[in-house]
Amino acid sequence: MPGCGSGHEARYLAEQGFQHVTVIDIAPLAVEKMRENLSEYQQVTIIEGDFFAHTGEYDLILEQTFFCALDSDLRTKYVQKMSELLAKNGKLAGLLFGVQFPKNPPFGGSREEYLGLFSEQFEIKVLEPCYNSVKPREGNELFFVFVVRKSVPCN
Ligand SMILES: C[S@@+](CC[C@H](N)C(=O)[O-])C[C@H]1O[C@@H](n2cnc3c(N)ncnc32)[C@H](O)[C@@H]1O
Repeated sequence: MPGCGSGHEARYLAEQGFQHVTVIDIAPLAVEKMRENLSEYQQVTIIEGDFFAHTGEYDLILEQTFFCALDSDLRTKYVQKMSELLAKNGKLAGLLFGVQFPKNPPFGGSREEYLGLFSEQFEIKVLEPCYNSVKPREGNELFFVFVVRKSVPCN
C-alpha cells in the first residue's frame, strides 16, 4: 500500500491473514505512527520512502487516498510505476474519487478520465460506483480492480 498514512488498511490485511504486506509512506511522522500502530504485526513491512523510487514486485497493490493526494501531473507516472511494481497478472485495486473538488487536494477525477489513463497498461475489470463508502464519501467514490497487462519475455 503506497501512501499508507496511519496504516489502518495494513492492520486489516494482516488480521485477514495476509502474510506479506508492505506499506510505504514518504512522511516520517506517518511512518513513525505506523511503526507504533503496527508493531505487533510481524507480517507487515514498513518503508519510509518515495513510492516513485521504490522497487519490488507485488501481486496486489491497494489504492486508498494516495492517488488523490498527488498533483495531477504525476498521474501518468503513477500508472507507469504501478505497472512496473506489479507481477504478471498483478492487480491494482481500491478506491478513486469519482467527482471533482472545488478546492484541492484531494484531486478528484472521473470514470472517463481513469479509463483514458489506465486502459493501455491495465485491463479494467471493475470500475463502478462504490456501494459501501464511509458516510462522508458516500456517492463520491469508484471501486476498481485493474489487472496489469504484462507479457513474459520469450527466451
Ligand atoms: C491522503 S494521505 C492517505 C493516507 C492513507 N492511505 C489513508 O487512507 O489514511 C496520502 C499519503 O500519501 C503520502 N505520500 C504522498 N506522496 C508520496 C510519495 N511520493 N511516496 C510515498 N508516500 C507519499 C503522504 O505522506 C500521506 O501519508
